[in-house]
Amino acid sequence: MADPPIFISFCTSIVVLSLLRPSSAGDTLSSVQSIKKGETLVSQGQKFELGFFSAGSSNNSFLGIWFVVSPETVVWVANRNSPLTNSNGTLEISKEGELVLLNQSKSVIWSTNSSKVLGNPVAQLLDSGNLVLRESNNSGSVDYSWQSFDYPSDTILVGMTAGWNFRTGLEHHLTSWRSTDDPSPGEYTYRYNIDRLPQLEIVRKGSIKVYRTGPWDGVEFGGLSMEGNTIINPIFVYNTTDAYFAFETLKDDITAKVILSPDGFMQCHLLKSGSTEWYLMYSLPHDPCDNYGQCGANGVCGVNQSPRCFCMQGFMPKSQEEWDMLNSTEGCIRKIPLNCSRGDGFLKLSQVKLPDLVDFQLFKNMSLEECRIECLRNCSCTAYANSDIRGAGCLMWLGNLIDIKQIDTGVNNGQYLFLRLPASELDSIRSPFKKLVTIVVASAISGLLVAGMALGIIWKRRIKRQGLPSETDEIDLPLYDFATIAVATNHFSQTNKLGAGGFGSVYKAWLLWSEGRAMELIDVSLCDSVLESQAERCMQVGLLCVQKFTKDRPTMSSVVFMLANEGATLPLPKEPGFFTERSSGSSDASSSVKEEACTPNIITVTWPEGR
Ligand SMILES: *[C@@H]1O[C@H](CO)[C@@H](O)[C@H](O)[C@H]1NC(C)=O
Ligand SMILES: *[C@@H]1O[C@H](CO)[C@@H](O)[C@H](O)[C@H]1NC(C)=O
Ligand SMILES: *[C@@H]1O[C@H](CO)[C@@H](O)[C@H](O)[C@H]1NC(C)=O
Ligand SMILES: *[C@@H]1O[C@H](CO)[C@@H](O)[C@H](O)[C@H]1NC(C)=O
Ligand SMILES: *[C@@H]1O[C@H](CO)[C@@H](O)[C@H](O)[C@H]1NC(C)=O
Ligand SMILES: *[C@@H]1O[C@H](CO)[C@@H](O)[C@H](O)[C@H]1NC(C)=O
Ligand SMILES: *[C@@H]1O[C@H](CO)[C@@H](O)[C@H](O)[C@H]1NC(C)=O
Ligand SMILES: *[C@@H]1O[C@H](CO)[C@@H](O)[C@H](O)[C@H]1NC(C)=O
Ligand SMILES: *[C@@H]1O[C@H](CO)[C@@H](O)[C@H](O)[C@H]1NC(C)=O
Ligand SMILES: *[C@@H]1O[C@H](CO)[C@@H](O)[C@H](O)[C@H]1NC(C)=O
Repeated sequence: MADPPIFISFCTSIVVLSLLRPSSAGDTLSSVQSIKKGETLVSQGQKFELGFFSAGSSNNSFLGIWFVVSPETVVWVANRNSPLTNSNGTLEISKEGELVLLNQSKSVIWSTNSSKVLGNPVAQLLDSGNLVLRESNNSGSVDYSWQSFDYPSDTILVGMTAGWNFRTGLEHHLTSWRSTDDPSPGEYTYRYNIDRLPQLEIVRKGSIKVYRTGPWDGVEFGGLSMEGNTIINPIFVYNTTDAYFAFETLKDDITAKVILSPDGFMQCHLLKSGSTEWYLMYSLPHDPCDNYGQCGANGVCGVNQSPRCFCMQGFMPKSQEEWDMLNSTEGCIRKIPLNCSRGDGFLKLSQVKLPDLVDFQLFKNMSLEECRIECLRNCSCTAYANSDIRGAGCLMWLGNLIDIKQIDTGVNNGQYLFLRLPASELDSIRSPFKKLVTIVVASAISGLLVAGMALGIIWKRRIKRQGLPSETDEIDLPLYDFATIAVATNHFSQTNKLGAGGFGSVYKAWLLWSEGRAMELIDVSLCDSVLESQAERCMQVGLLCVQKFTKDRPTMSSVVFMLANEGATLPLPKEPGFFTERSSGSSDASSSVKEEACTPNIITVTWPEGR
């Protein structure tokens, strides 16, 4: 009596299967078969499924591909632009060898429209999620006449690319869904912009940028702060044949997808095998400072700054009332407009996402030095940078600088923004540095303190660099570290100003030193604690810094080295002359020759510390 129930359950399973699967259940559709509502193709390894679906409460239906384990996660849609409305569709292979989608009145509403004519075409859904059209006798080959991977919807899977194939001229970009239950094309697109120098961009309504990475720096995209991880490896390619974004998974039990969400976020989602819950791993824009142009023209956005928006050195808010972290769209203007005077120089900024490539020029073969000269030569040039961190390349901005972000990762990709400023601005930025040098020289206020600070800086640098700086190893001392300078000068108070008339004390970055009476400069109260040799050393280095001729002045890395190494032999300073060479040569009318003969007028700064 146990037989009938077993028989019944066997029958039931047959019925259920025939309802869900076409009689030709499998991963391949031949030219004599078709797929209708309720019928699907399933990839060989049961990873992906192709069929009709409708999202939400809509009466529209679409042909799409979804994860078998997560049927609500549609990764590709064929007829996004022409939904089936209250109509049953049919997918089949046409006489011309194309994959076509017909509506109930047999009109073609979507077609693969491939250029290649096949003898005996079949469509196959692969385990990668790729739907391919190929010759039936050609199953092992990747010689497809058409593949869905070439026409991404809003999702990239492993093996897909978003970008350009220069050999075929095909561009793959992502377009968001209109909403989570409407796959028709939405407002956002993700594109690999290849206008001379690539940038990845999320764009609204075809032209409004909402997010961009920094420009391609020869190796990767600048300003893209993707934290290292052991699950996903993003792949960025830019060469003569390909320009694309792709990714691979580093763990076998993880399925991943990157999507452009209906509200304009590039998101990486993960699914652990055995689970049906997707986990949002990363989302771009990642922080408020990723929002395009958050701080307006010439404004900088720093996530750890408060307020987030600040103006670069030499700039001030265009509208002070509006200047708060919520509404800084007016941005910044120059305190002193550039008038192309001969004293213009540059401020070297590190840890930045370079400004957007709106109005710019790219000279692929120029050195950084040629770039500087070219920028000085053109009155419209407001900043420059090296375009390729591996070598030559000059990027020049003309006009306002948009969408600059302060990068906090602490890792500099070797790219700097050289911001053009008039001489007077550079001098005012330099003055705290002058004070610092003067303090070191005179040791009148806090000789040991400054020396200690210098050593502290050196110590920090050493830890960072894991080795002693050498002559060739250019060091960017945090010359503009507000906190340090403020402490050293007792918040720039008048009492610590070293006498009116500029650099009287220097002569007194001399007379006593030359007479061997260095110790007379040391503040009486500090005498006990100051080692004579240390004080003398500081003064000697300070004097070397203010030598009349550039060639006599040590580089910053040498200064660090001299201060750090008691044993190092120091050159004997000559009579100082502070910053006199620029004014002395200013009667010379010819420009570029003199520019090259002079020390480049460049100051290195770091961003202010976040609070
Ligand atoms: C869907 O179709 C039904 C029946 O044709 C109709 O009553 C309903 O209004 C439609 N819904 C939408 C959102 O169009
Ligand atoms: C689509 O086909 C199903 C049967 O498969 C039928 O019940 C339904 O009415 C059809 N829809 C339309 C709009 O004709
Ligand atoms: C099929 O598509 C054609 C062309 O778009 C359209 O004119 C026709 O009304 C559609 N038929 C149905 C049943 O939706
Ligand atoms: C098919 O592609 C050709 C060019 O490759 C184009 O001219 C034509 O309009 C396309 N047809 C359809 C239906 O998309
Ligand atoms: C596959 O079939 C096509 C035509 O149907 C034929 O031209 C081709 O030679 C065949 N290739 C192989 C490898 O058999
Ligand atoms: C460009 O990069 C892709 C991906 O790494 C590679 O397949 C292709 O061969 C490269 N092209 C050139 C010209 O190096
Ligand atoms: C920012 O200022 C502009 C112009 O004054 C104004 O239209 C806008 O609403 C303000 N936005 C916010 C977030 O306050
Ligand atoms: C850039 O330099 C390369 C190699 O030196 C050379 O082949 C190329 O012609 C140069 N391009 C321009 C525009 O000068
Ligand atoms: C500066 O560069 C811009 C952009 O190429 C150009 O239009 C302009 O003529 C240049 N000006 C000078 C003085 O060279
Ligand atoms: C240009 O600006 C500098 C200061 O930045 C000033 O000294 C000079 O007089 C200005 N020249 C003109 C023509 O305005």
